[in-house]
Amino acid sequence: MVNMKKVILTGDRPTGKLHIGHYAGSLRQRVAMQNSGEYDVYIMIADQQALTDNAKDPAKIRENILEVALDYLSVGLDPTKSTIFIQSQIPALYELTIHYQNLVHLGRLQRNPTIKTEIKERGFEKSIPVGFLTYPIAQAADITAFNANLVPVGEDQLPILEQDREIVRAFNQLYGDILVEPEAVLTSDEKARRLPGLRGIDDKMSKSLNNGIYLSDSPEIVQQKVMEMFTDPDHIRVDDPGKIEGNVVFYYLDVFAPDDPKVAEIKEHYQRGGLGDVVVKKYLIGVLEKILAPIRMRREELAKDPAAIYEILKQGSEKASNVANETLQKVRDAIGISYFDKSN
Ligand code: TRP
Repeated sequence: MVNMKKVILTGDRPTGKLHIGHYAGSLRQRVAMQNSGEYDVYIMIADQQALTDNAKDPAKIRENILEVALDYLSVGLDPTKSTIFIQSQIPALYELTIHYQNLVHLGRLQRNPTIKTEIKERGFEKSIPVGFLTYPIAQAADITAFNANLVPVGEDQLPILEQDREIVRAFNQLYGDILVEPEAVLTSDEKARRLPGLRGIDDKMSKSLNNGIYLSDSPEIVQQKVMEMFTDPDHIRVDDPGKIEGNVVFYYLDVFAPDDPKVAEIKEHYQRGGLGDVVVKKYLIGVLEKILAPIRMRREELAKDPAAIYEILKQGSEKASNVANETLQKVRDAIGISYFDKSN
């Protein structure tokens, strides 16, 4: 049967809990796409990819699988509508990776700007784990296994996607039109693509910089983090005119309350002078809590039954594995290595 729906696949490395940068930049769009009913949605917890630079700490990855799954489910990803699965549980992905490795040259991997940056960040310059250098190839397996047309990702992933498209084209050129060429999808809200961290506009919110508000943070922690947030260093007295550019609090208001008329009013007042940071921060806390409170409630409920979460992931992984096996069979047939298959 021909599948008429477009297929979406995306995933996250389970190296920590998800934060409001993930929510703004990706999770909320995934939920909207899922609920539109227009797509076949696959959401993958990329534990194998996470292990490529965490081989010495598999416990961290293992623990965060549950955290990421809880984050997914509490924002509204729904296992009755989307297939949510664990990468390492799909054997076909490993074999696809091996076949695609023959289509990629070492120099091409070494020139990938995202990989270059990540190598620096991790101090791998002198000695790069092979699995890490080659994760873009494994990512091509993740994407093509499910015939994904659309891959929602952050901007940093665009070079990886470009490399994956090259792999698809190389494969199809050699062996016939088998693989679907994927397209990266960025969030339409440009500001949401790069939510800054709490300490200033220059750094993106990220697990490694410890500058985020997590979906699982308590109301007290959210309040404390907002109160410590970077604003306008020249806005010293309440009466001073304040700047909203480069001001993290206003950046967040734009992303999380874009159409709120009250925000326009607050901006105007702040720039004119006479409005203190604390007032604006309290308003932001209200905006964030409106989003986070229901997520937090669902998360607490779901966290009571980890076995049920694992059952969801197990069923998702079984379904995903069946789909990936079909692609693998086509790939083997196309290369011509299905030696013992009668139909060949
Ligand atoms: N590389 C992605 C990240 O770090 C995670 C990922 C792994 C992924 N496999 C994928 C994303 C396939 C999209 C499609 O965020």
